[in-house]
Amino acid sequence: MTEKDFILKKTNLSSLNKGSFTWKSPSNIALVKYWGKSEPQIPKNASISFTLNNCHTTTSLEFSKKEKPNKDYSIQVIFEGEIKDNFKPKIKKFFKRIEKYIPFITEYDFVIKTKNSFPHSSGIASSASGMSALALCLISIEKELNPEITQEYLLKKASFLARLGSGSAARSIEGEIVVWGEHKNINNSSDLYGIKFPKKIHKNFNNYQDTILLVDKGEKQVSSTIGHNLMNNHPFAQQRFDQANDNISKLKEILQIGDLKAFVNLIESEALTLHAMMMTSNPYFVLMKPNTLKIIEKIWEYRKNTKSNICFTLDAGANVHVLFPEKEKEKVNLFILNELIQYCQNNHYICDTVGAGASQK
Ligand code: DP6
Repeated sequence: MTEKDFILKKTNLSSLNKGSFTWKSPSNIALVKYWGKSEPQIPKNASISFTLNNCHTTTSLEFSKKEKPNKDYSIQVIFEGEIKDNFKPKIKKFFKRIEKYIPFITEYDFVIKTKNSFPHSSGIASSASGMSALALCLISIEKELNPEITQEYLLKKASFLARLGSGSAARSIEGEIVVWGEHKNINNSSDLYGIKFPKKIHKNFNNYQDTILLVDKGEKQVSSTIGHNLMNNHPFAQQRFDQANDNISKLKEILQIGDLKAFVNLIESEALTLHAMMMTSNPYFVLMKPNTLKIIEKIWEYRKNTKSNICFTLDAGANVHVLFPEKEKEKVNLFILNELIQYCQNNHYICDTVGAGASQK
């Protein structure tokens, strides 16, 4: 599908004066990372992620026909019960990008009521779950205006719109493993939207666990936009994009044959490479904290001593996602509790698992 296929053709706008839709949309954790993009939100390499289950955003979008039509966006944002005018610029920028595809957004006054299942200042990015939930609410309006659209189209377009809000949000519509970005070995993959991993996944990866250790709950030091831009003149950029695409091919096999050892190796290498890219850009950043490294060392020690398949991944921050198979849950949870929680800010952590994707409420 091309961009043109996402432009809304015919609608019967007069049929819909007001209403409200609510969607719950999950966060996701990348296994092969997206880091580097070009306009408009086109990734430099394909990425693949686990959709999460417990970390999610619930958004209600209330809409009513404007009394006097104009070309402006009329938006009010209420986050966890409080009016948040500082959220508006990001949403207006998003609306500007998507107006071409859903022109009805200028016809309504919108009230966006949104809340996260995870604490606001937890260092967990809410852009993936937030933008995907909002995109799904908007797509529900399109569906109302144009009931013939299929479920398949609806999900693709929701991912397409979400991507224009935040790249990783394209991977937060469906579960359980999603690929975003065109890749020669993944049929039907696209730079424009995420697709479900198209092969059967080995049972070793069923209900995979992700315990998120909140090492630093402060504001992000580097916004993802700045981070992605750093890849533009980065000396290792092309090698990194090639490596990520190779890793997708490798992971495709690993997920099908259930090779946990190879999974551990690839996932940790991806996490450290993402941070290596930040350390070797100019300006340079170190986003890991001393406790991030303490946790990594402990995980390596535990793995050596127990032959566990525990591993870690990181996003663009200091928090650590600890990944492990469901059948190791009891033992690994004890290890986390006894040995790792001490390195978290206020001992805070979140237990999550791979999830099935967004749902309408
Ligand atoms: C390190 O999706 O937050 O988490 O497209 O600018 O909104 P924008 O970036 P964003 O970048 C995510 C970067 C990452 C890796 C990943 O999720 O693949």
